Amino acid sequence: MPVSAPTCLAGAPVALPMLRAVLRGLGHSVLRRPHRRVSASGSRGWCNGGGDGEGRPGPRRAQDGRACFTTPIFYVNAAPHIGHLYSALLADALARFSRLRAKPPPGPGPAAPLVRFSTGTDEHGLKIQQAAAAAGLTPSELCDRVSAQFRALFQEAGVSVSDFLRTTEARHRRAVHHFWGVLRARGLLYKGLYEGWYCASDECFLPEAKVTWRPGPDGESRPEALESGHPVCWMKEENYIFRLSQFREPLRQWLQDDPQAVTPEPFRLVVLQWLEEDLPDLSVSRGNSHLYWGLPVPGDPMQTIYVWVDALVNYLTVTGYPDSEHKVWWPTTHHIIGKDILKFHAIYWPALLLGAGMTPPHRIYVHSHWTVHGQKMSKSLGNVVDPWTCLDRFTVDGFRYFLLRQGVPNWDCDYYEKKVVKLLDAELADALGGLLNRCTATSLNPTGIFPEFCPSCFPSVEGVTVAPAKAQPEDYALVRSVSALPLQVENYYENFQIYKALEAVSTCVRQTNSFVQRNAPWKLNRENLADAQWLDTVLHVTLECLRVFGLLLQPVTPALADKLLSRLGIFETERGLRDICFLPRYYGQPCPFEGRRLGPDTGLLFPRLDKSRARLAKVHST
Ligand code: MSP
Repeated sequence: MPVSAPTCLAGAPVALPMLRAVLRGLGHSVLRRPHRRVSASGSRGWCNGGGDGEGRPGPRRAQDGRACFTTPIFYVNAAPHIGHLYSALLADALARFSRLRAKPPPGPGPAAPLVRFSTGTDEHGLKIQQAAAAAGLTPSELCDRVSAQFRALFQEAGVSVSDFLRTTEARHRRAVHHFWGVLRARGLLYKGLYEGWYCASDECFLPEAKVTWRPGPDGESRPEALESGHPVCWMKEENYIFRLSQFREPLRQWLQDDPQAVTPEPFRLVVLQWLEEDLPDLSVSRGNSHLYWGLPVPGDPMQTIYVWVDALVNYLTVTGYPDSEHKVWWPTTHHIIGKDILKFHAIYWPALLLGAGMTPPHRIYVHSHWTVHGQKMSKSLGNVVDPWTCLDRFTVDGFRYFLLRQGVPNWDCDYYEKKVVKLLDAELADALGGLLNRCTATSLNPTGIFPEFCPSCFPSVEGVTVAPAKAQPEDYALVRSVSALPLQVENYYENFQIYKALEAVSTCVRQTNSFVQRNAPWKLNRENLADAQWLDTVLHVTLECLRVFGLLLQPVTPALADKLLSRLGIFETERGLRDICFLPRYYGQPCPFEGRRLGPDTGLLFPRLDKSRARLAKVHST
């Protein structure tokens, strides 16, 4: 089998034209795939014991609800930016959602965790070796410094990882060496001469067609990667080579058997397209005279293991590989990755796994990139957005909400500050915060008790007009929307459309505000029994809606959701997704919150960022 350079791996500019072509070819339907019908009228949403209705789509997770989520491990050549944080937050939201779903009912004894979530830093390779030299540091000093920055950022941003792996750790070395040994024992590695272009920044090989010559600052022509613009150099040496070419059919089979293996769909099509092209064997080591900063090939210390093989095995290391416990976790693994590293994850990694006699990952969720004023973020352009500044300025929950609400996996998204302020003020401060404020105000609810629902004012059969029935068709529409919301949100999470889940919540928040506005509880007279019953019913329905919103927002805005739920008096043990059970009184069931004291008022749910408009609004209202 001739060894040629595998294509460079879909950096943003590489993947997009192909992706666009695929999309063009398929029309819009791919992106607008209809979701399974959600229960609407009369649906109780999720209730204790009854949640997992038939027809509910779901990932093929382990029977016991175990799931393992991973972020890519981050290069330590430079400080983290908001793109890295976005990758981590997507994974965090999925992991948190999964935990809420798996939340065990309260009972004695600590329950074993069913959800694992790992991240870490990718510390070996030429890129790091060169970055350290440029910074006048040893590689290990650079790794310690930048790895700590990633760790601190994720901690600050509430990224709820259960494991932070550094590829320089001993447990990882053991896993990589074991994995290498398995591949070798299965006859999948051979030694051969590799000759071709290598891009250290992208840590990948490039075929001739992906290399261009451009004049450098001194006017002299230099070879560089066509898409990323990073310098490349010619390499010729004897390496270990993995028989990747044998895996074309098994990979196709895997993608065909499991249409959700790579999600969203356009990215799966891109991978299938790659499988139609040349799939040469893959060089998986370097001579250590070029690359000393890495793991040596077992039994051949003159060769260093290719950094991508080293890095990908991190996903096994965190499951306990090679110890047998990894078998419990591995088949449940969901990778969250950026589109630039799709080929590594959806071709090389599954092929390596199949080669080692293991199954490919359960899911690969792919997202696009953040640009700044339409441009790719880069140190050389000086437009890198610092995530700490953003967390500071917009608050942790605010910035998490922004990135996840605006980030659409299928497309690149553009970042600018005004957009953040506008979104957060409209959706968190005004719509959600305003709703909570209004309905817990002592003027409307002087006792501070979760008010009573009056079934005769809001009969469960729509259309009753006899007093004291007061509910109008729009009010029933609200109940239907909020009843259907949890299942809708779950569907969106399953399809890696967190932004749509947030949009759906936001639409319901708006609908609830209209409900309050329409029924104007402030115009009702508490002294009059009929008015008082309806007033309490309007407040009860609104607080129930807020409870559902709070529960569903937990994976994205954990602190804000906690504040909201605590204000409503919802206990910690009542915050799992199984506990949603929206508006039980409407369905003739007891409501555990009714008559319960609300939690203390701890101030605005989300203070407006644009204070000038807040002031203006005040002036107008006086
Ligand atoms: N070290 C490899 C991953 C190895 S995983 C076995 C790597 N590291 S990275 O630091 O360059 O990128 C980590 C993640 O950040 C990738 O998912 C990448 O797509 C993502 N992002 C980098 N820039 C980004 C944006 N501008 N926007 C969104 N995500 C971005 O690749």
